[in-house]
Amino acid sequence: MVKTTRVEMVVNGRTVGPSDVPDTLPMVDYLNDYLGLTGTKFGCGIGVCHACVVIVDNPDGSSQTMRTCINSAATFAGKSVRTIEGHANSEGKLSPLQQAFVDNFAFQCGYCTSGFLNEATRFVEALEKSPIPKSSVEDAVENALGKHLCRCTGYFRYYAAVRDLILANPNLTVDG
Ligand code: FES
Ligand code: FES
Repeated sequence: MVKTTRVEMVVNGRTVGPSDVPDTLPMVDYLNDYLGLTGTKFGCGIGVCHACVVIVDNPDGSSQTMRTCINSAATFAGKSVRTIEGHANSEGKLSPLQQAFVDNFAFQCGYCTSGFLNEATRFVEALEKSPIPKSSVEDAVENALGKHLCRCTGYFRYYAAVRDLILANPNLTVDG
């Protein structure tokens, strides 16, 4: 008999569940198969490539990214989650980072893109609260996105898209 847990969470601002899911069900499968949110991608499946990350918003206003291949759906019970489907507005207008990715031709096959977008979004939102010196932006972007693997070797354009967006927004940096 498969052991199950009743889970309820908020995904992209909408409460989902409660539903009974197997304890071992990975979050990526819950998003893809139970909720039809197929933008979260299963890459390596062992926690290395970070293609599968989503954003988790904490009650204290902070946020973090979490991998959905190595964390079960039950791990996310009670949490507030953002996926790639939650970035554009209700009219379909892309978020500034999504638009920057498009403008920079940042991705090729796109398999890694939702992970990069979620990580970059969390990073830029953190800069809104805590700006960094302009001179450190290049390194900070590489550091923030450095765990994300792209088999199409699209790193440079991803990094450039995020760097240029940050440098174009005076609220995200300080002189220095
Ligand atoms: S698919 Fe989750 S880290 Fe690679
Ligand atoms: S764009 Fe193909 S894996 Fe990154």
